[in-house]
Amino acid sequence: MMDWTDRHCRVFHRVLSKETLLYTEMVTAPALVRGGALHLLDHDPREHPVALQLGGSDAAELAEAARLGEEAGYDEINLNCGCPSDRVQSGTFGAVLMTAPDTVARAVRAMRDAVSVPVTVKCRIGVDDQDPETVLPDFLARIRYAGCERVIVHARKAWLQGLSPKENRDIPPLDYDLVARMKTAFSDLHLSINGGIETLEAAERFLAAGLDGVMIGRAAYHRPWDILAEADRRIFGQDVEPIAPEDAARAMLPYIEAHIAAGGKLHQVMRHMLGLFAGRPGARTWRRVLSENATRPGADGALVLRALEEMHLARDAAWACVPA
Ligand SMILES: Cc1cc2nc3c(=O)[nH]c(=O)nc-3n(C[C@H](O)[C@H](O)[C@H](O)COP(=O)(O)O)c2cc1C
Repeated sequence: MMDWTDRHCRVFHRVLSKETLLYTEMVTAPALVRGGALHLLDHDPREHPVALQLGGSDAAELAEAARLGEEAGYDEINLNCGCPSDRVQSGTFGAVLMTAPDTVARAVRAMRDAVSVPVTVKCRIGVDDQDPETVLPDFLARIRYAGCERVIVHARKAWLQGLSPKENRDIPPLDYDLVARMKTAFSDLHLSINGGIETLEAAERFLAAGLDGVMIGRAAYHRPWDILAEADRRIFGQDVEPIAPEDAARAMLPYIEAHIAAGGKLHQVMRHMLGLFAGRPGARTWRRVLSENATRPGADGALVLRALEEMHLARDAAWACVPA
């Protein structure tokens, strides 16, 4: 997710879950190939498994970008066919590609020929006045034939005019049933569902109904512990206890100190961790201490420890106020 799932966010999410597949923000193929912005591929070895999401539509350029991504160590190359923003439309990529399945198929084939890691696609069920019932199966058939083995479907249309990117994530209605039927129709395609899924219970239901995967975006960002910390046990069947949120905060300290020692700022990491205690006593104190202080000059790991301490004190004070 642009501006959200940067490398700091992904390292933090990896502390919570070892098994979940993490995705980068979208990186455009022109930026990598024409612009030489190879720093956009920077990531930390502990992020694995991690997929690089590319934006673009030119097959040769995407193939080269995919090659660069594989060389940089990514475990999967994903093509964005779902982002509706104006900037992205003008570059002919993102959701507008739902209207150009042959272009997507050509790109997938070229990327497949260029790399040995899986090439996957994230798409919508259609755009604008398209009929998803015909457009989505046709789109999936073409990209599967081109060699795409895994697809993530955001189960709503995108409106390319008239809705902001944010509105395009909420207003077009979700059609989970259509995505579930696609799994029946394309049984050999690894199909993940996305859009509005906010709990592990909901994810479990989709998996039990036959979907191969569930992608969770906003809920995982805003309530990372709730979604990620139990995923290894509940979704991936690992015999592990979830890490306590306090321990997750402490586990980030070496990374934070290294980031600061390399010239980075505390808030660049902490902004992704504000939701760590979401829904738990003291969450507001944690958020407040960090939001108010993490941008100050010299802020470092000591502030994280202070935020933990103040949060505990706030919790204790709240308990002390409960009438006997
Ligand atoms: C801030 C933000 C940035 C996003 N950036 C991307 C992106 O770069 N690529 C992409 O495929 N989807 C992007 N999305 C869409 C999400 O991946 C996801 O499809 C959408 O939010 C619906 O899933 P959710 O309800 O689980 O959040 C973004 C969403 C948000 C909120």
